[in-house]
This record gives sequence, C-alpha cells and structure tokens, in this order.
Amino acid sequence: MINVFYLIIETRFSDNQFPFVLLGDVGAGKSSLVLRFVKGQFLEFQESTIGAAFFSQTLAMNDTTVKFEIWDTAGQERYHSLAPMYYRGAAAAIIVYDITNSVSFTRAKKWVQELQVQGNPGMVVALAGNKADLLEQRRVNTEEGQAYAQENGLFFIETSAKTATNVNEIFYEIAKRLPSVQPLPNPGMVLVDRPAHGAASATCCS
Ligand code: GTP
Ligand code: MG
Repeated sequence: MINVFYLIIETRFSDNQFPFVLLGDVGAGKSSLVLRFVKGQFLEFQESTIGAAFFSQTLAMNDTTVKFEIWDTAGQERYHSLAPMYYRGAAAAIIVYDITNSVSFTRAKKWVQELQVQGNPGMVVALAGNKADLLEQRRVNTEEGQAYAQENGLFFIETSAKTATNVNEIFYEIAKRLPSVQPLPNPGMVLVDRPAHGAASATCCS
C-alpha cells in the first residue's frame, strides 16, 4: 500500500503536477493568497477556512507547464492534527505569517520545525510575510523574516494578497525550484487557469 502511494506521488510529480500546501496561523492570509493567485480576487472579509480547501492553478513557464494542486489548510488549532495529511505528500509548501502579528511569526517557525521533522524531505518551502500593505502596523521586520528563512534554507518574500504584491512571484519562485522544472535564462510565467477578466495581471516575473 505504501509503495502504491509513493508510486502515485512520483507519477504526479513526473507529469509536472505538484501537490502544494499552505500552512500558517489563523488569519495570516493563506486563503487570501490562494484566492489572489487562482482567481485574481481579494475579499476584505474572507471566511476562516474549515478543515481545508482545494484549488488548482496551472503555470505555463516557457516550454513547460506546472500544475499546482493546492491545499489551503485551516489555521485554527483544532484542525492542526489534519495538517500532516496535506503536507506529507506535498512537493512544496508556503508557510504564511502576518507581518502585523508577531504571534503568527512564532507560529510560522513552529510549522517550519514540524516540516523539518515530518515533511517530505525534498519539499520546496517558502516563507511568506503577508499583509505587507499594512506597513504602519508592522510588528515583524523584514530582516527578521529574511534572517530566519536564510538560517533554515527557505525562500523568503513579503506579500500582500490585498494589493497582489509578490503573490504570483512566490508561486513562480517555488515552481522554478521544483524537480523537472528547468526555466530558461529569460523566464516568464502565464497563469493558464486564471480567467482573463481577473483583477490582477495573469503574467509575471519576466
Ligand atoms: P484561516 O483560514 O482562519 O486559517 O485564515 P487564513 O490564513 O486563510 O486568512 P484569510 O485569508 O482568511 O485572511 C484573514 C483576514 O485577513 C481576511 O479578512 C483578509 O481579508 C485579510 N487579509 C488577508 N491577506 C491580507 C493582506 O495581504 N492585506 C490585508 N490588509 N489584509 C489581508
Ligand atoms: Mg483560510
């Protein structure tokens, strides 16, 4: 049974289909980042996720496509025990914190530790300091996030789901780091699944 499971994961990776997970404290902005990336939308009153939600998005990167199968997990503590179901088979993860909330940064570090112990060994992990539009309420300095990410071998970027800052970029940077995705020296990305009338540009990162 275990071998069959690994075979499925291998096959999916080799088809450039990558299970992907978002982890982080309640209210950090996981669902908002996914909604921005997949649909180009933002909701001021995004409902708290119950259990987990599934989305997919395909990126066309030069001569290859990458399909992200995204599990947006719930940050509420009562759902913590479900998280391994989503991260164990994942090729990549974004751990999200809210730059206006230092508790969420502490929580993000706990997720990093948990993935280091129990995650998929080859997993590509990014750390996102979200709500970067709320500069006046900032409680976590960019340098703190950057230093922590560097110490732990994570890709780091500050994002805003509200203004769309660095949202496509973080997914693109992860896609570049996935096995069997070899972007050309002058890379560009197109979001194949996003409707043409989405609020944000569906291309980035040239
Ligand atoms: P759980 O599902 O409860 O784990 O939370 P979550 O991490 O999915 O957070 P969610 O996306 O639901 O966002 C929580 C609140 O923060 C919502 O009211 C969003 O509108 C708001 N929010 C999310 N991202 C941003 C952002 O980049 N900037 C600002 N200003 N608000 C944001
Ligand atoms: Mg959510």
